[in-house]
This record gives sequence, C-alpha cells and structure tokens, in this order.
Amino acid sequence: MIKPFYKKFFKVFSISLFISLVIIQFIPSSFSRTNPPITGEPAWDAPATRATFMKACGDCHSNETVYPWYSQIAPVSLLIEDDIRDGRRHFNISEWDKSAHGGDDAAEEVQKGSMPIGLYLLMHSEANLNAADKTKFAEGLQRTFRASSENDEEAGNTEHDEREQKEERK
Ligand code: HEC
Repeated sequence: MIKPFYKKFFKVFSISLFISLVIIQFIPSSFSRTNPPITGEPAWDAPATRATFMKACGDCHSNETVYPWYSQIAPVSLLIEDDIRDGRRHFNISEWDKSAHGGDDAAEEVQKGSMPIGLYLLMHSEANLNAADKTKFAEGLQRTFRASSENDEEAGNTEHDEREQKEERK
C-alpha cells in the first residue's frame, strides 16, 4: 500500500521543517535594526516625489526603514538584512551629503519595473505603482537627481536614458 508511506513522509517532512525553522532563529546576526541617523537628503523636486520614494523605496534606500513584525523572524530577517545593507550601500537618500550616487539609475529602475524588488512587492502592495504613477514618479526622480548627477559615475548616461524614456512614452 502506497498511502501509509506518504502519510509517514509528510509527517517526517513537516516535523523536520518545523525543527529547521526553530533552529535558524538562532543564527547570530550583526545587523542592527536601529536606523542610522539621517545626515543629508537630496533636494527633492516636490514633496510627492519624496512621499512615493518613502512608500516604495525607503525601506531599503534610506535610514528610515520600517521593520514589520515578520522582519524579526528568520528566514525573512536574514533576507531583508542583506537587501537593506546592499540597498543602502548602492543608493541611500538619507546620507546624500556623504555619497550622492545611484540617483541617475533610479528613474530607469522604476520605469523598467526592476525596483522595488519582486519579493518586497509581495508583502508591500502599497509599493506597487500603476503605470501613470510610475511615469510621474520617474519624472520626479529625474528632476531631483539631475542636479546631483555630477557626483555620479554614470552621469554620462542621463541624456541617453531620457531620450529612451521619451521614446517609450510615445
Ligand atoms: C527590498 C529592498 C529594496 C527596495 C524596496 C528597493 N530597492 Fe533598490 N536596491 C536594492 C538592492 C538590494 C540593490 C542592490 C543590488 C541590486 O542592484 O539588485 C538595489 C539597487 C538599486 C539601485 C542601483 C544603484 C546603483 O548604484 O547601481 C537603484 C537606483 C535602486 N535600487 C533604486 C530603487 C528605487 C527607485 C526603489 C523604489 C521604487 C527601490 N530601489 C526599492 C533593494 C531595494
């Protein structure tokens, strides 16, 4: 008989899964959920651009990260630690005075839909922008970050990207 085997398999499987979930809670982490201080922000073109940014990007690209309850529980905690660390390193609007980089790519990431990252959207429906909001937000990002583009390694791409986006909108 095949049925008892499956029953046993699922029992062993769920017990192992449960034990693994308990064990990974003890993986030590050096990540601090205390947000570092805000030392400087870009010159936003409009309050709406900043508001949308904080809604859709701020958890990983600012020092104003909001940590929901499930963010304390592994494996979610381990996943988001990496995202926040990496995200801030690439592009952090709260330390714009120290390192103003990544801004030029921001509008493009939004238009392409590659930011915010998919897994985040699953838990944050408010970060899911519709096409019209995306276009408006991307334009706001471009206006905001054009001013600081001289600090950006890839500043040369700005004009090219803008042309591309105008083409797409036609
Ligand atoms: C869940 C965390 C998370 C969210 C939310 C998020 N990002 Fe990111 N972002 C990352 C990570 C991690 C990286 C670096 C690794 C990579 O490129 O995939 C990154 C990289 C970037 C870069 C590249 C910077 C560079 O220097 O190359 C830009 C620009 C960016 N994100 C913009 C945005 C914008 C704009 C939003 C909001 C619409 C956003 N991100 C939302 C995690 C996030």
